[in-house]
Amino acid sequence: MTTPVLEIERLRKRFGGVIAVDDVSLRLEAGRIYGLIGPNGSGKTTLFNCITGVERRDGGRVRVSGERVDGLRPWEIAQKGVGRTFQVIRVFPELSALENLLVVTRGHLGGARTRALELLRFVKLEGLRDEYAGNLSYGQQKLLEFVRVLMRDPTLILLDEPAAGVNRTLLNDLLDAVRQLRDRGKTILLVEHDMKVVMGLCETVFVLDHGEKIAEGAPGIIQTDERVIEAYFGR
Ligand SMILES: Nc1ncnc2c1ncn2[C@@H]1O[C@H](COP(=O)(O)OP(=O)(O)OP(=O)(O)O)[C@@H](O)[C@H]1O
Ligand SMILES: [Mg+2]
Repeated sequence: MTTPVLEIERLRKRFGGVIAVDDVSLRLEAGRIYGLIGPNGSGKTTLFNCITGVERRDGGRVRVSGERVDGLRPWEIAQKGVGRTFQVIRVFPELSALENLLVVTRGHLGGARTRALELLRFVKLEGLRDEYAGNLSYGQQKLLEFVRVLMRDPTLILLDEPAAGVNRTLLNDLLDAVRQLRDRGKTILLVEHDMKVVMGLCETVFVLDHGEKIAEGAPGIIQTDERVIEAYFGR
């Protein structure tokens, strides 16, 4: 068996009386697209926060390409090849689209500029490179945030609701981009409420409910799983 890109063992996080992530275990193999779904408040974002070191976990282990990362600081985990977007957009509105990509780089600016321009082209935003990010549409800002994550060439990419509020054309650009990354060997884990996106994109889906992983499998199978249906519609 090959070393998983991400391996989580019995991860646990509580906020006071709320167990936001309840002994969740999962493993992600290289070059695949995974979905993480579940009703509002089921712990999806908290799981991302624990993987990336934004929240301190209460228990469990996280390994990236075989190496323990739980306990490391967020920037150290980023250096191990983990990139993520946030549910709430975090672009710098008063910087241009291009500058938004350059702010995350260190060192040789010429190389970074070339890469940034390539990435803007990748999501068809090259024509807007000098526009203030704040003037871009919501969907364009989400694409910009997505490619900013790619500036450091992460091996594992965590996307928190990338499609929410994005119009159909931009959504197709985003989905194409995600598939191309997968084809280049990247591993993607995305949180998404739009079931059409999840079903069309993901090879394996994990389902959370009240912080617990209640199902895992191919999207078609997940859709007919009784616990999943109950979690979504049974209350
Ligand atoms: N910083 C925090 N302090 C206290 N409770 C929190 C905090 N962050 C999350 N929670 C709680 O943890 C639980 C899981 O929240 P989380 O944001 O991870 O859910 P989610 O699945 O991402 O939901 P959504 O689909 O609405 O984004 C919820 O009960 C939430 O209220
Ligand atoms: Mg969330």
